[in-house]
Amino acid sequence: MAVNREQVIDVLKKVNDPELHKSLIDLGMVKDVEIAGDNVRVTIALTMAGCPLKDKIKAEVKEALLSIPEVNEVKVVLTTMTSAERAKIFGQEPSEMEGMKGVKNVIAVASGKGGVGKSTVSVNLSVALSRMGYKVGILDADMHGPDVPVMLGISDRPIGSRGMLFPLEKHGIKMMSTGTLAGDGTPIIWRGPLVNKAIKEFLGHVAWGNLDYLIVDLPPGTGDAPLTVASTIPIKGVIIVTTPQRVALSDVRRSVGLFLKENIPILGIVENMSYLKIPGTENVIDIFGSGGGEKVARAFRLPLLAKIPIEPEIRKGGDEGEPVAVEKKEVSRPFYELAARVVELVEKDGKARGADI
Ligand SMILES: Nc1ncnc2c1ncn2[C@@H]1O[C@H](COP(=O)(O)OP(=O)(O)O)[C@@H](O)[C@H]1O
Ligand SMILES: [Mg+2]
Repeated sequence: MAVNREQVIDVLKKVNDPELHKSLIDLGMVKDVEIAGDNVRVTIALTMAGCPLKDKIKAEVKEALLSIPEVNEVKVVLTTMTSAERAKIFGQEPSEMEGMKGVKNVIAVASGKGGVGKSTVSVNLSVALSRMGYKVGILDADMHGPDVPVMLGISDRPIGSRGMLFPLEKHGIKMMSTGTLAGDGTPIIWRGPLVNKAIKEFLGHVAWGNLDYLIVDLPPGTGDAPLTVASTIPIKGVIIVTTPQRVALSDVRRSVGLFLKENIPILGIVENMSYLKIPGTENVIDIFGSGGGEKVARAFRLPLLAKIPIEPEIRKGGDEGEPVAVEKKEVSRPFYELAARVVELVEKDGKARGADI
């Protein structure tokens, strides 16, 4: 005998939302049930995009449906509730950019291409600002390569409550990653309007609390991805990271053009992997040639905010979740200098405090 709809609804009545302790049916989270022979496909609307409990909900729905003897195969599709649907459950829906209310300055870190050290700069800049006494958060918005949690040594999943997501804390800073949106290792295809919607919702619902600086590690490139994020949050300024090679620099030109076109202010350029110091000497080798960052900076009349050498310790710090900036020492000096420049540019007459090593 084939399964019928009532059987499906009956078992789903026994599955509760793990946070709200009410059944998915009563909460109106079951959007669609399709039955084809012994095959059942249900669509569940989560209270928020990137809900940390989504894998648990999915597994429980699947298990409940498979407990019906006539059911052989189950597919669970996850979507997100609309604001109106959420408002019904929570009473008042948090306003669109609720989580950003207490955030003073958003600084985005961008690059024309991947692998130039965008995440390394974002993470160490954040840690340096925090060690200088500012309240700092970092948003990993690079959904194609969400490396920030690893670089900070964070493996926990964030907690959600009443439609808000709570950032995790490490090395004195708060962190949220768009990697949370992906969940159980399933790659998400980041394209189209649905993505924009998911990102917007996600960005607005992170409970940052009061922050002096929120550093955003943007997706690389000069296309839609960085712009979607950049135009969703009110950005004070963008830092563009590059390496001195010619290819990297032509990407910077495109990157600069992209933000200027959107009237998003650019604070300046960071040249990463600028040179290699020869251990035990004052000598340096310009692996990728020299002067590239200066050239681009001059061409666009932008300040060159920092030149960061290639240092095995910087890479190691990232791999091991202990960014070099956690300690004030010689290798972390460029990041503290960068942090001081950023503060001076953002707070205009402000003088950075606590950047000396
Ligand atoms: N200044 C540096 N010295 C040594 N290694 C670096 C430096 N900057 C970045 N790296 C390493 O290069 C790789 C790419 O850096 P990453 O920050 O992940 O780049 P992106 O975010 O632009 O893709 C990482 O393994 C990182 O540890
Ligand atoms: Mg990265």
